[in-house]
This record gives sequence, structure tokens and C-alpha cells, in this order.
Amino acid sequence: MLATTPRLSLREFTANDVDSFYALESNPANARYQTWEPRTRQQSSKLVDEAINSILIQPRRVIELVVETGCETETPRFIGRVGCMIADNIANLWFSFLPAAQGKGYATEAVRALITFLHDAPAGNLVAFETLQIECDPRNTGSRRIAERLGFQKISEELNVYKCKGELVGSVVYETGIQGWLK
Ligand SMILES: CC(C)(COP(=O)(O)OP(=O)(O)OC[C@H]1O[C@@H](n2cnc3c(N)ncnc32)[C@H](O)[C@@H]1OP(=O)(O)O)[C@@H](O)C(=O)NCCC(=O)NCCS
Repeated sequence: MLATTPRLSLREFTANDVDSFYALESNPANARYQTWEPRTRQQSSKLVDEAINSILIQPRRVIELVVETGCETETPRFIGRVGCMIADNIANLWFSFLPAAQGKGYATEAVRALITFLHDAPAGNLVAFETLQIECDPRNTGSRRIAERLGFQKISEELNVYKCKGELVGSVVYETGIQGWLK
């Protein structure tokens, strides 16, 4: 396990996670405010491969983790994923949870654990960065609430920034610093 919370565990992806990843990523509701259409099984399998390969690239620039409940039992349950990509001194965070696992605070708990993992990573394990960022479509209230609950500050909100799935969509950006992150 890379991180645990009272209810959750975060771990690296393995080849056994393709079915769960596909169940999450093929769901139109989960893709609603993403730039991509619901994923096919083939796309899901490729993305899981990429997540596994990213583990080997040091220092790490991409982190993509499985979130599970019930890890104290013999049958932990995949409920979602959290991750980030580090570029230009910024770790851009993402997260997506199965509909049945939403509305329970799991996503906020998992993102908090991810940030603590990033904060505590030994020097040299990750590409260095100073800022954590959450960017989303302004209509994505679930995502915005996570940023706000975690103490991120809104730094910009714009309408009609880019074309996505045939419509012009906006962008809201939240930030906080990794130094002094309070678990
Ligand atoms: C974004 C997303 C993860 C948010 O999911 P979520 O379930 O709203 O977020 P959380 O798991 O943190 O749950 C928070 C809710 O659980 C409620 N909750 C219930 N029991 C709780 C508990 N024991 N502890 C904490 N919160 C609890 C909170 O009150 C909150 O509800 P509210 O927002 O109505 O106030 C989800 O909508 C999703 O997967 N969307 C698709 C992917 C996506 O758009 N990702 C973002 C782009 S990067």
C-alpha cells in the first residue's frame, strides 16, 4: 500500500485492474466533464498498462493509484482512482469514483491521502514541484467541492475556454502549495 486512511487504501495499478478501470471509465456519467468520451475496453487496457509503466520512470512524473475499500478483508473493493501529473512545477490532480461510491466522502479522503503521499515522498523520488492544482469544468460541482474542502484557493474561472465534446466549456482552477501541507 502506498497510503491508507481510516476507510481506504491507495495502491499502484496491476494488470488485474483492467475490468475495474473499464467499469469506471466506460461510464458516461464519469466522462461527463472530461475531455474524453467513455473509454472502450481496449483504451482502458492501454491506460492501465501506461499506469503500470509509469511506476518505473524515476523520478516519477505521473502517479496513478487505485483506491479501495475493505482492505482489512480478503476482498478489497475497487471504488475509484486518484492521480497526478507533475509538469512546470505544478502537480495537476485528478480523481474519479464509481457512482455507487460517491456521496460518502471517499474522494476527498483519497485525494487528501494522495497529497500527503506526495508531500512525504523522499527527495528525488518525484519530479520536484511547489504547487498542487485542481482544474475542472466550472459545472463540475463535485470536483469543485473537493478542492474547496481541501483548502485550495480558486485562482481563475473562465467561460468558453476550449471546445469539448462539441460544446464550448469553461475552466476553473484551484491551487495550494505542497510546502506546509497539513494532513
Ligand atoms: C468528482 C467526484 C469524485 C466527486 O465525488 P463526491 O462523491 O461528490 O466526493 P466525495 O467522495 O468527497 O464525497 C463528498 C460528499 O459525501 C458526503 N458524505 C457523506 N458521508 C460522508 C462521510 N462519512 N465523510 C465525508 N463526507 C461524507 C459529503 O457531505 C459530500 O456531499 P456534498 O458534496 O453534497 O456536500 C465524482 O463526482 C466523480 O467521480 N466524477 C467523475 C470524474 C470527474 O469529473 N473527476 C473530476 C475531474 S479531475
